[in-house]
Order: sequence, then structure tokens, then C-alpha cells
Amino acid sequence: MEIRFTKTKNPGVMPPESQLGFGKVFSDHMFIMDYDEEHGWHDHRIVPFSNISLHPASTVLHYGAEVFEGLKAYRTDSGSIRLFRPMENIKRLNSSAERLCLPLVDEEEMLEILKTFVKTEAEWVPHSFGTSLYLRPFMFGNDETLGVHTIKRATLIIIASPSGSYYKEGINPVNIMIESEDVRAVKGGTGYAKCGGNYGASTRAGARAEKKGYSQVLWLDGVERKYIEEVGAMNVMFKIDGEIVTPALTGSILPGITRKSCIEVLRDLGYKVSERLISVDELIDAMKAGKLEEAWGTGTAAVVSPIGKLMYNDEEFLINDRKIGEVTQKLYDILTSIQWGKTEDKFGWICEII
Ligand code: PLP
Ligand code: COI
Repeated sequence: MEIRFTKTKNPGVMPPESQLGFGKVFSDHMFIMDYDEEHGWHDHRIVPFSNISLHPASTVLHYGAEVFEGLKAYRTDSGSIRLFRPMENIKRLNSSAERLCLPLVDEEEMLEILKTFVKTEAEWVPHSFGTSLYLRPFMFGNDETLGVHTIKRATLIIIASPSGSYYKEGINPVNIMIESEDVRAVKGGTGYAKCGGNYGASTRAGARAEKKGYSQVLWLDGVERKYIEEVGAMNVMFKIDGEIVTPALTGSILPGITRKSCIEVLRDLGYKVSERLISVDELIDAMKAGKLEEAWGTGTAAVVSPIGKLMYNDEEFLINDRKIGEVTQKLYDILTSIQWGKTEDKFGWICEII
């Protein structure tokens, strides 16, 4: 594989790291490759970050043929740069692509592409603890026809955004509204895939939640609206009466890499973690009985984010007095120290780049 490189003539300036926020600033370059049936993936290139041009009939613009990933490049105190479990993201990209009938990528080649791209953008990896270069690989179908057919042409792009905290609250507890009207996914649908359509369909509920002062919604299952699934951009975990529980991967929720890592860390620490169905009634009963000890979300952008307040059918419940719980804090500390290189990586999750 050869990657052509065209260097930008207009390098940008990194904003002060304390003002980064999430996904607002972009690095100088982007990676692009194209796919067609005859050539497979071809024309690998790193080019100056710029707008892209699409045929107005491109499949992605009409039929939502798009999947994406999210992972971060972290800088350690010694200046080295690393990724966290990138192969998990690459495998999930392929699983999402398979669901949407988009072409798969060669996993080893994709890892090499990510490494090369991060090396090119190394100066955009911020230095402060808690900041990182968020990488957003995405793939879309761009056949130039309005017919609804299997995709024959696609493009994969990686853009990078130096980022701080996802929520304006940082590690402080966020407010989450349990959604009882709209649903995000059903079994047999695309819930387990990271595809743009899932997020488009989630926006209305998210907007309603924001109006009420809540950061995101907590989805219930799409059939019975009874079982807890996940939050807009995070998986969820609860500590109920001493038991750590998280919704099982039933096909309608995203198999989060942070979720998987948290379960592995918790089991390593000796906690029992149950992956099972959790009904909203069980959660409400636990809150009313004072047995919901902690609730938190897990995600690449959000890391480990305590949930301080839940609302269900206009009733509000405070969790742990809106303080960060012990398990939540422990998970945040362990994961972030592995990611930013403050602790030995005994799990073998780190992929060193420079
Ligand atoms: N669930 C949804 C809907 C998400 O968008 C994300 C973020 O990627 C997650 C869960 C968490 O996944 P991960 O930990 O792999 O980032
Ligand atoms: C991530 O955590 O990487 C995500 O993709 C969340 C995103 C939808 C903002």
C-alpha cells in the first residue's frame, strides 16, 4: 500500500488546549481512499483538510449509506503518542460496513493507515491530560444513481480533531432523560452498527432532552419500551444494591469499546459485573428505595461520565447526591491513566505510534 502525501500550504493553529471542547477544530490534513468493484480500495492519499465534492445523486445523500468510528490519539508526559485498542474500532467498522452493504477494509492495512495518518498529524495531538486528537474514520457509498442498489462505489475518509472534554460538565455528573416516546433501534435493525442513520433518528429526542436541561437521552428497547439500552453517545452501567449491571449486547445497542474495557477492568479488580436485561421499572424501584448507588456512561468521547440525575416521565431522581461515585471514579482513573501513559498497561491495550 502506498499513501500519497500532499502537504498543506496553509497550516492551522492549535487553539489554547483549555478551550478545545469536542469536535470543533480540525487538523491540517485528512486521509482519503476510494473503492470501486474493479479496483477495490485504491488511491490512498493524505491531503490538506478541505471540503469534499459529491455528485448530487450520491447514495449517501439519499439513502444514508454511511458508517463511522471514533478513537483517540493520546500524548504521554514523555511526548510519545499512542492509540487505545485501535483494532477493536477497525473490527467494528467492518461489522458496521457489513450491515450497511458497504465494502470492508483490510484490518491490518487500516491499522497502518491510522498510524501513518497520526504520525502526519502528530503536532495536533494536544499535551494536557484529558485532551487528545479525536480520530473520525467514516465511510460512505457514492454511486451516482438514484436507484436503491447494493453499493458499488465508496469513499473512506479520516479526519482528526484535537479535543478536550465531550460534555461541558467535564468529569462532573451529567443529567440524562429516559426517553419514553421515540426509540433508537430494534433487533434486526442497525442498532449495533455505528452508522449515521442511528444518530439522525436520535436527534429529536436529544433536542427535547436538551430543552429540559438534560445532556442526552437514555434509550429503552424499541419493542416493549421496557428495557434500558444505552445513552446517545455512551453505554451505561449501574451499581444497584452492590451489583454492577450493564445492558447485555442484544443487537440493538452499540458494542462499546470503553464498555468492554470497563467490564475487563472491573472483573480484574474483583467486581462481579452482570450483563443482563435491566428494566426501567427495576431502575426506578431501585432509585425510589435508595438502592441505585451509582450510574455512569462509557464512551470514547465521554470516557467514563457519572450520571447525576435521571428523569423518567417528568419525575426527577438524583443519583448519589450528584456526586461522582467510588466505582465511577476508579474506572475513570484506571482507564485514563492507561490511555495517557501514567500507569503500566497490563492489559496490552496500547498501540504505540511514536
Ligand atoms: N453508544 C453509542 C450510541 C455511541 O455513539 C458510543 C460512542 O462511540 C458508545 C455507545 C460508546 O462506544 P465506544 O466506547 O466504543 O466509544
Ligand atoms: C465516540 O465516543 O467516539 C462517539 O462516536 C460519540 C459521538 C457520537 C460523539
